[in-house]
Amino acid sequence: MRTDTGQIVHLADYRPTDFVLERVDLTFELDPTNTKVEARLIFHRREGVDVSVPLVLDGDELSLSGLLFDQKEMPASQYDATPQSLTVRDLPAETPFELTITTFINPEANTKLMGLYRTNGVYCTQCEAEGFRRITYFPDRPDVLAPYTITIIGDKAANPVMLSNGNFLGGAGYDEGRAFAAWFDPHPKPAYLFALVAGDLGVVEDTFETMSGREVALKIYVEHGKEPRAAYAMDALKRSMKWDEERFGREYDLNIFQIVAVSDFNMGAMENKGLNIFNDKYVLADPETATDQDYANIERIIAHEYFHNWTGNRITCRDWFQLCLKEGLTVYRDQEFSSDMRSRPVKRIADVRNLKSEQFPEDAGPLAHPPRPDSYREINNFYTMTIYEKGAEITRMIATVLGHDAFRKGMDLYFERHDGQAVTVEDYVACFEEASSRDLKQFFRWYVQAGTPLVTASGAYDAASGEFTLSLEQMTPATPGQPNKEPVHVPLSFALILDNGSIAEPKSVTGGEVTGDVLHLTERSQRFTFSGISSRPVLSLNRSFSAPINLAFDQSSADLVHIARHDSDQFSRWQALTDLALPNLTKAAADAREGHEVVCDDAFVSALLECAGDSNLEPAFRAQALNLPSEADIARALGGNNDPDAIHAGRKAVHEAIAKAGEEIFVRLYDEMKTEGAYSPDAESAGKRSLRSAALSYLTYAEGTPSRAAEAFGAADNMTDLAQSLTLMAHRFPDASETTAALASFLTRFDGNPLVIDKWFSIQATIPGRDALERVKGLMENPRFNAGNPNRVRSLVGALAFGNPTGFNRTDGKGYDFLAEQILAIDKKNPQLAARILTSMRSFSSLESVRAAKARKALEKIQKAAALSTDVRDIVERMLKG
Ligand code: TRP
Ligand code: ZN
Repeated sequence: MRTDTGQIVHLADYRPTDFVLERVDLTFELDPTNTKVEARLIFHRREGVDVSVPLVLDGDELSLSGLLFDQKEMPASQYDATPQSLTVRDLPAETPFELTITTFINPEANTKLMGLYRTNGVYCTQCEAEGFRRITYFPDRPDVLAPYTITIIGDKAANPVMLSNGNFLGGAGYDEGRAFAAWFDPHPKPAYLFALVAGDLGVVEDTFETMSGREVALKIYVEHGKEPRAAYAMDALKRSMKWDEERFGREYDLNIFQIVAVSDFNMGAMENKGLNIFNDKYVLADPETATDQDYANIERIIAHEYFHNWTGNRITCRDWFQLCLKEGLTVYRDQEFSSDMRSRPVKRIADVRNLKSEQFPEDAGPLAHPPRPDSYREINNFYTMTIYEKGAEITRMIATVLGHDAFRKGMDLYFERHDGQAVTVEDYVACFEEASSRDLKQFFRWYVQAGTPLVTASGAYDAASGEFTLSLEQMTPATPGQPNKEPVHVPLSFALILDNGSIAEPKSVTGGEVTGDVLHLTERSQRFTFSGISSRPVLSLNRSFSAPINLAFDQSSADLVHIARHDSDQFSRWQALTDLALPNLTKAAADAREGHEVVCDDAFVSALLECAGDSNLEPAFRAQALNLPSEADIARALGGNNDPDAIHAGRKAVHEAIAKAGEEIFVRLYDEMKTEGAYSPDAESAGKRSLRSAALSYLTYAEGTPSRAAEAFGAADNMTDLAQSLTLMAHRFPDASETTAALASFLTRFDGNPLVIDKWFSIQATIPGRDALERVKGLMENPRFNAGNPNRVRSLVGALAFGNPTGFNRTDGKGYDFLAEQILAIDKKNPQLAARILTSMRSFSSLESVRAAKARKALEKIQKAAALSTDVRDIVERMLKG
């Protein structure tokens, strides 16, 4: 366990290494508890570096057991080895030299799941961000690129599969009982992209012919017996490869591409060159065990990791401050892929919902940081919503500002100019400046300023002059370490919608730059005037969520209803319905808190029901509209002094009002949206199921009994319907006998399938109300729970803390005390996981004062604990500092 407090790393301190790494040659002799690693590294001193400068390599919990210089033993006086570093002195001035470093590591004891570890008897690695230094001493930073040769030697019977990056060189028996396999990756890469997998795994094989006619072998490795459940992932992979060729001109570059699914994994997946490693949750699917959402996630994450081959691997990051260069861009690419595979507006709605409910709170709280930070204490804590999702929004804005063609030109230039390099966000943006001849200096502030800008808008129409004026102001709130903000370049897609639903074409626009349907807000305050508008228009602003901002625009219900009916941008129609819903939900929360009766605005309810029943709209879109803003969204809209119980009660009352008013429509939809025939995970069928389940949810509110959900549970022939009906029963009628029976039958049916049991765990962990805590504690005693497996921990502890506002935020503070205890226990095994779950408390200071004080106490208890990892210490201290 590391108990250091962690050094702060600053972007301003960046300088290249003193030694250049030319080649890496690794030999692993696998053993579950004592694996021998021999690293042969060829270096030369960088030109201009003084001969007195030593070579310093990174380590983490390592011990050196041998060091050769050009194959001869190195005198002990020439080096110092500690668990954290290896320093070698008196190295040559100019000539290349070879160091051979031997370490022994214990994969079985590696509970951090960083470096080389074991999962279900399989050897597996995770090296991003700084895991390679847990394998051998190395210049473990992303700007050190080299080709790798890998030899794996292992017990033949236990490891029929031995994989690494690049192309397979060959393999055979090695000595008695052992075999070897050799791999060569010709593409220079940083150590964080290294991977090794060995064990006894089943494989699904296919091939892909690239745009230039090369054949690539595709292999997905899973546990024996699970091969059929990898078919959808394989299909998603082939579609991703094709799409990247068509959309971005990117071709795959090795003769083999492999994916391995493992059951113990800290995150979703990892883009190791030619050998992606996945959390099995994002590979395995069949209709009986996976929901529509699981299928969509598999498609997205398979694409994401594959797309990293160009955005991340061929072109990588100069340092970890540039993380959003690969992650934000790759998320943008996977979003575009999913939009092309599915419904673009529905995908945009889902992405914006996620951005607003996860990234906006991060950006408004103590953990706020710019997409390109300038310092960090623990890099593992920077794999955040801001880096990924806001990073994607920034690339999306570049595409909006430049237009499709110039954006593509900029991307092409980026790929051509920087292939094989480790670069910065500045290098990336410069490509777009050159391709478009547009100055992006002001735009660049999006990368370096934290916080969600607030844009305030007001419009006025003057019938006499036929002019519509729009006044805009922008303000970015202060965030930790950044009290003052400069105005950013906000691209705002807009439409002036006339009475008959058509879109006005202004004769002229003054007051600022307008390109196509995009207004460019660049000043702190700006007034645009549109002339030649024949009648009072309704302004639809920030269409498709062209900029990741909070918009304060006091539009009447009538105007919002007009947008909800007529905008040609479907996203905006959904946004208008949300804007109608939110004041009802916040008011309902206030009423519930005061003990007042909750009443809903008729305009809102009828607009929502009109949308629900509109058969010209896609079912998935209608389902999104019916799925009201979450409790977290309402809390965010309320802004502070929040009472999760009141928010929950108010939201429930709004649902009941809608359910009563729309009962007939919901009965009809429940009937009409039934999908016929065998289950298919395609977007259209999934959309129907989602609308049907929204109807079921409202009907359950209207009827006030679990019978209809119980019936649906009995009739379900796929996991989507099954999990949805079980959730309805459990969340609305936790004590009903139908619920008890359904939970028991679900468990019996899926026992032995941990990924499905995770659903069973989290459905119960998210049952609203104060009993959730005892329920979770009870489930942690269940033999199916395993505190060492991140998926299990997330499905119980994570689900309670992130997904159950009323259950977690108990007024007696017991939820916080429980989390503190859990964090300290998890931290001993897996600091990265502990730190991530702890971020669930990032908005504690916006709770009402009784809860906020108890939450603070729990955080202080964590902070004072004897041995904290750097990961948890970094998070807890930032949260307490605010
Ligand atoms: N780079 C990976 C991705 O974007 C995510 C990742 C970073 C990761 N660090 C990790 C995954 C550690 C697992 C463990 O998909
Ligand atoms: Zn990624």
